[in-house]
This record gives sequence, structure tokens and C-alpha cells, in this order.
Amino acid sequence: MLKGMVSLVTGGASGLGKATVERFVKNGGKVVILDIQGTRAQQVAKQLGENVAVATGCVTSEADVKKALDIVRDKFGRLDTLVNCAGQSKTHQVYNFHKDKSCELDDFVKCINVNTIGTFNTIRLSAGLIGKNTPDDNGQRGVIVNTASTIAYEGDIGQAAYAASTAAIVGMTLPIARDLASQGIRVVTIAPGFFDTPLMNYLPEKMLEFIKRMTPFPSRLGKPEEFAHLVTSVVENSMLNGEVIRLDGAQRWFPL
Ligand SMILES: NC(=O)c1ccc[n+]([C@@H]2O[C@H](COP(=O)([O-])OP(=O)(O)OC[C@H]3O[C@@H](n4cnc5c(N)ncnc54)[C@H](O)[C@@H]3O)[C@@H](O)[C@H]2O)c1
Repeated sequence: MLKGMVSLVTGGASGLGKATVERFVKNGGKVVILDIQGTRAQQVAKQLGENVAVATGCVTSEADVKKALDIVRDKFGRLDTLVNCAGQSKTHQVYNFHKDKSCELDDFVKCINVNTIGTFNTIRLSAGLIGKNTPDDNGQRGVIVNTASTIAYEGDIGQAAYAASTAAIVGMTLPIARDLASQGIRVVTIAPGFFDTPLMNYLPEKMLEFIKRMTPFPSRLGKPEEFAHLVTSVVENSMLNGEVIRLDGAQRWFPL
């Protein structure tokens, strides 16, 4: 199933997206990376060879996503799978009582814009191209995999924007799966716990140790390859649809 599969992976220049690109290509897939960090995406493509192309751009931009889909069509002829991994995470408490100051509204807006609206934007623009595929024996034309977070369910201090942005992805999963079901397009969201990617670089060592202790088994951060493994499992399992899957080593986050 993965052999020859054509995918668009957003955020494929780093972390969870990059691991997904690597796994797809290792299994004979073809990928276009859409990432705002064009140089990093080009480095990934260079390492993986001719089955990877790059579109530099922002997931929130209609023009950039359309340009990426043009590259998908021109280079590989069709689109089977969209994997949404582009995202950002910043923390800011709603009010700073020491400084008697509200947080910036723009920080909240940016987080919702990239994580939630960016995910919706790529889905709405990709669905048409996936829908042009000839259905397989199961009637399936393609798969969309989104990335939310366990923070959607258990946000901590300072995580209102990130929690809201990922909870919205959780919330849109079932209705979009229902919207696209008539065309045989499945939609599944993965909600990872804490994974060892550059996104986690901002966390102090003490916090990382705390996170590991909060993860019953295995008591460590997730590996990006484990996320990529689940993406391929979702692609391969035709009965998975409209669902959000936690990938977190039974970790539950209790406020500090
Ligand atoms: N790492 C974790 O622990 C973790 C846990 C839960 C959820 N997530 C989510 O998974 C996704 C991937 O995270 P990661 O850990 O791989 O992060 P990462 O920072 O390693 O990679 C994110 C990639 O997205 C790209 N990107 C960011 N904004 C973009 C935009 N507007 N348009 C296009 N590309 C953009 C970045 O350039 C980067 O290459 C994010 O949505 C993140 O919130 C991560």
C-alpha cells in the first residue's frame, strides 16, 4: 500500500513530519514536503533522493498550499495521502499578575492560525485532488492524517492557545471524516504525548525529567519514528476513520 503512494506532508522538514517522510520513502512512497523552512526541507529531500520534492510555504496560505498541490500533481501525478504535521507551540499565561498585564492577543491568534486553520486549509484544498483517484477494492481514494496533541485534553498553565488549537483539530476530525466519506477518503488524527523533536527544545531539563516520570511506560519521550509508525498503520488500516488516537505511553498530565 505504501509502495508508490503519493503524499503531501506538512511540517516535513523537522520532527514528526520528517520522520513520516523518511518512513514513507523507505517504504517506496513519494512525498512533497510543504514547510515554511525551505532550506531544511531541501536538506531532507537531498538526503532521501528523487522521490521527495519540496514546496516552501505556509500552511495558512491558500496560494502556498495550491502551489504545493501543483508540485504534487506535476511531479507525481496524483495525491493519495495528506499528513498534517506543521505546527507551533508557545506558552503564555492569560494574565501576568506581577506585571498587571494581559497576554498578547496576537500570540493566541497565531497559534490558532497555524495549528487549526493551517490544518483545515490543507485539508479543504487537498480533498479535491485526492477525490480524483480511482477507488481501490475497498472504495478508498485516500487518507488524511492530522496531528493534534494530548494537550488538547490536559492543557497545563500557559497552554490555553495550544490546547485550544489542538482541541479544534480533535473536534474537526469526525465531521470532516463524515464530509469526505462519500468519496472514500478517511480522516484520522493522532494526539501525541511528548516527543523528542526540536519543538521540545525550549523545555528545561528538569521539566523533561518530570515528563518522563509522568509517563508510566515507556518512561521516556516518544521517538519521532514511533509517530511515523502510527501514521503508516493508519494509512494501512481501512477501518480506522473519524477517530483520534492518543500516542503517549499512558501519560496523563497533572497540573503542577
Ligand atoms: N513534539 C511533541 O512532543 C509534540 C507533541 C504533540 C503534538 N505535537 C505537534 O506535532 C506537530 C509537529 O511537531 P514537531 O514536534 O515535529 O515540531 P517541529 O518544530 O520539529 O516541526 C514542525 C515543522 O512545522 C513547520 N512549520 C511550522 N509552522 C509552519 C507553517 N505555518 N507552515 C508550514 N510549515 C510550518 C516547521 O518549520 C517545522 O519544520 C506540531 O503541530 C506539534 O504541535 C508535537
